[in-house]
Amino acid sequence: MKAIYLEAVNSPFVLIEKDKPTAGPGEAIVQVKAAALNHRDVWIQYGRYFTKDYPAILGSDGAGVVTEVGEGVDQSWLEQEVVIDPSTDWGDNPHAHSNAYKVLGMPQDGTFAEYVKVLASNLHRKPAHLSFEEAAALPLAGVTAYRTMFTKCGLKAGERVLITGAGGGVALFAVQFAVAAGAEVWVTSGSDDKIEKAKALGATGGINYKQENWGKTLKALVGGFDVSIDGAAGEGFVQLVKLAKPGGRIGIYGGTTGMIGQINPAELFWKQLAIHGSTMGTNQDFADMMAFVEKTQVKPVVDIVFPLAEIEQAMRYMEAGKQFGKIVVKVSQ
Ligand SMILES: NC(=O)c1ccc[n+]([C@@H]2O[C@H](COP(=O)([O-])OP(=O)(O)OC[C@H]3O[C@@H](n4cnc5c(N)ncnc54)[C@H](OP(=O)(O)O)[C@@H]3O)[C@@H](O)[C@H]2O)c1
Repeated sequence: MKAIYLEAVNSPFVLIEKDKPTAGPGEAIVQVKAAALNHRDVWIQYGRYFTKDYPAILGSDGAGVVTEVGEGVDQSWLEQEVVIDPSTDWGDNPHAHSNAYKVLGMPQDGTFAEYVKVLASNLHRKPAHLSFEEAAALPLAGVTAYRTMFTKCGLKAGERVLITGAGGGVALFAVQFAVAAGAEVWVTSGSDDKIEKAKALGATGGINYKQENWGKTLKALVGGFDVSIDGAAGEGFVQLVKLAKPGGRIGIYGGTTGMIGQINPAELFWKQLAIHGSTMGTNQDFADMMAFVEKTQVKPVVDIVFPLAEIEQAMRYMEAGKQFGKIVVKVSQ
């Protein structure tokens, strides 16, 4: 089979031929039709991810067709169109994952290959309203957005939510899910064009975080937020604390711009804020996210589709940050 290999830190992604995997007990082989990129893949290429198990076949997101099932797996999965839950070994505590927790695509071989081996318990039927490309866009970013916003921050219909960096993969799902849940959605972005695109998806408004004093301007415009969802951290996070309503919740799933600036502790305790760190999601979060997508018929936004052989170019495209929506890879016909 064709697969994309990352030999070592700072090396390019290269196309190789490799033996097709076979299913052991409880496992299934999926012919990957489409895969999607996450910032995680770029961090791994630069050695800036906590798992460092090179060489590797990356890829946490995939949708395809089940071609083989191992012993003990229901045969009715064969030929089914599926989406893969990338999380394994979360553990018993729903509030945080165990040390054994793994994300598909390092240490296990991931979806940047024509076939991938997964636990059959991680298979979900592909929603009929989604193409393989749209379905492949969903798993990692979708479950991260879902858990941060609903499981952790408990966003409800009618509440006002601020989602930062709306052009990001996770952030854009948060925008779509929050709109579908009936919340009043506001965004930040470094691009006015992306704010307009978020509004076209149902956001009420937004502000460019490159603008000086954006936090103050936004506060004057809308008042406070019940919930903020952030993957950027840095100085911007301080603004989220200032923008929170009393009793507000802030969900943080990433740290793209680095260390958080100075926060006045009184703003945290006097307003009785809750800050929820969140990573990926439990298998239950994933199942809930899939049910939510079925019910609301949300369609992931796909910015661009690259052929499998051009993953290196796709990674550089992601780094440039011009995308609005997921960067998808077409793996097999
Ligand atoms: N904890 C988890 O489970 C988990 C899962 C997925 C991702 N992450 C982390 O979350 C972050 C985003 O991941 P992703 O895959 O969604 O990445 P991505 O698609 O590359 O998006 C990154 C986004 O960050 C935004 N951004 C950049 N500078 C910003 C700033 N100063 N203020 C606000 N937003 C800013 C940009 O938004 P605009 O284009 O709108 O300016 C950009 O689109 C990464 O750090 C990633 O490692 C964590």
